[in-house]
Amino acid sequence: MTVSTPAKYDVEAVRAKFPILGVTVHNKPLVYLDNANTTQKPESVIEAISNFYRTTNSNIHRASHLLGEQATNQYEAARKRVQRFLNAREWEEIVFVRNATEGVNLIANTYGRQYIREGDEIILTEMEHHANIVPWQLLCERTGAVIKVLPVTDDGELDLTNLYNYFTPRTKLLGIVHMSNVLGTVNPVEQIIATAHEHGVPVLVDAAQSAYHMPIDVQAMDCDFLVFSGHKLYGPTGIGVLYTRRALLEEMEPWQGGGDMIESVSFARTIYNQVPYKFEAGTPHIAGAIGLGAAVDFIQTLGMENLRAYENELLQHGLAVLTNVKGLRLIGSASNRASVLSFTLDGVHPHDIGTFLDFDGIAIRTGQHCAHPLMQRLKVPATARASLGCYNTSQELDALAESLTKIRETFVS
Ligand code: ALA
Repeated sequence: MTVSTPAKYDVEAVRAKFPILGVTVHNKPLVYLDNANTTQKPESVIEAISNFYRTTNSNIHRASHLLGEQATNQYEAARKRVQRFLNAREWEEIVFVRNATEGVNLIANTYGRQYIREGDEIILTEMEHHANIVPWQLLCERTGAVIKVLPVTDDGELDLTNLYNYFTPRTKLLGIVHMSNVLGTVNPVEQIIATAHEHGVPVLVDAAQSAYHMPIDVQAMDCDFLVFSGHKLYGPTGIGVLYTRRALLEEMEPWQGGGDMIESVSFARTIYNQVPYKFEAGTPHIAGAIGLGAAVDFIQTLGMENLRAYENELLQHGLAVLTNVKGLRLIGSASNRASVLSFTLDGVHPHDIGTFLDFDGIAIRTGQHCAHPLMQRLKVPATARASLGCYNTSQELDALAESLTKIRETFVS
């Protein structure tokens, strides 16, 4: 069975844009199925970064020379690209951070420290990545606030039966992952945000896994905060995005102090810069932001709807071929899911699966996927995870299934 590629999606043309897909691993062609961990980079992103250092490199917002002006323009143009990508109302709502993790930490250390006190409550879900758990635990240790956890069903969906009961007058924030990195479950964030807002509670969405698979519209979603990482969206590492509704961003006190986040400084008093600069202390990852802008252009050229449709067909193909592998158990069966295939293989430890697939040139991730509470809930010590990106093909999933069959035969014979 092959995937009938949607008319507008030419996967071979997409693959041709990624130089790394030509490499061999252990003398085998690379089959890269570790996209939830980080994605590969298209030529346009590599070029944007390289061109910046070759032709424009300068610091931004401070230099009184042409290169400085050009660097500033490129950095700010990248911010506007991200604004359009998320459909944010204003470019001022986009703060560049290192990654999704830093975005969550920024909110915990600004909004959280300002408004969350002893006895207050933060609602999270059982399927959060550690990045959306630990910053809140740190805040709770400092303030005496508490975390309440929305449970996950055996199918790997959020159990929203008692959602209303989670809210009390002490609820100060709800943090939710849009798409699970372990299960691929896509959560009904719009519905959850609407309920939170009925109770006057702001919502932070972790879109690290969803932003490169499906369209994100922060206005339609109506979230208050949203984070994602550039390196999962075919962009560079070390750059990420925090979207915050303007009114909240204006209220928030700065987190880190230093250059560029100030209007004026004296030992008596510092006046902070306007948003978003108030939250971008020090020289930022200029080339990274420019690379991210190129990545946003790249993914928009594919068309988010086209990409979603293609990856969905690929996912269905993957589910079908993996189901035929003897001893393989798929983890998670949410009705709304995307691009992630987590599984165990009877008689083979996930780490061995990873090692032996690697000998066949197939890259996946194994382990607990930075989601220990979810793994405890699912009662699995570890899983193997194949995760899809824009350049994967049904033939690669066939190769995965074939290799897994061979591995199981080796271990269980
Ligand atoms: N890098 C993390 C993963 O692989 C988020 O799921």
